[in-house]
Amino acid sequence: MRIVSIVSQKGGAGKTTLAVNLAVAATNSGIKGALIDLDPQATAANWGDRRQTAIPSVISAQAARLLQVLKQMSEIDWVFIDTPPAISNTTIVAVRAADIVLVPSRAAIFDLDTLAPQS
Ligand SMILES: Nc1ncnc2c1ncn2[C@@H]1O[C@H](COP(=O)(O)OP(=O)(O)OP(=O)(O)O)[C@@H](O)[C@H]1O
Ligand SMILES: [Mg+2]
Repeated sequence: MRIVSIVSQKGGAGKTTLAVNLAVAATNSGIKGALIDLDPQATAANWGDRRQTAIPSVISAQAARLLQVLKQMSEIDWVFIDTPPAISNTTIVAVRAADIVLVPSRAAIFDLDTLAPQS
């Protein structure tokens, strides 16, 4: 299993859009993909509810349960984790669990400013 966490402390950076598109692209490529939504706003989980298919599966989870949830997904090849817009414990848990961390950012100064370390 490969785990990809999508993180950014900036809201609206494109985390959920990237996560759901990667999960669908993986599935369309014949890869067993799944999406874990760690954001309490549950945008990705709501997206999953509106779809007419259960593939890729979308699991709404809490950071404290992430490792247990991942253990139950041993048949999945690629897991994409959507996170809330903050450098919180949830983000740290998602980053620690990941093989790859993606930080979406648009080429605009407000987005690029958020990449600098915050005190
Ligand atoms: N690559 C992109 N190009 C243009 N618009 C985009 C792109 N990615 C996302 N958007 C749009 O930007 C808005 C915010 O995207 P999204 O919800 O994915 O961000 P987010 O980082 O998950 O937000 P939040 O921090 O609130 O969870 C949406 O309207 C989405 O359609
Ligand atoms: Mg989001």
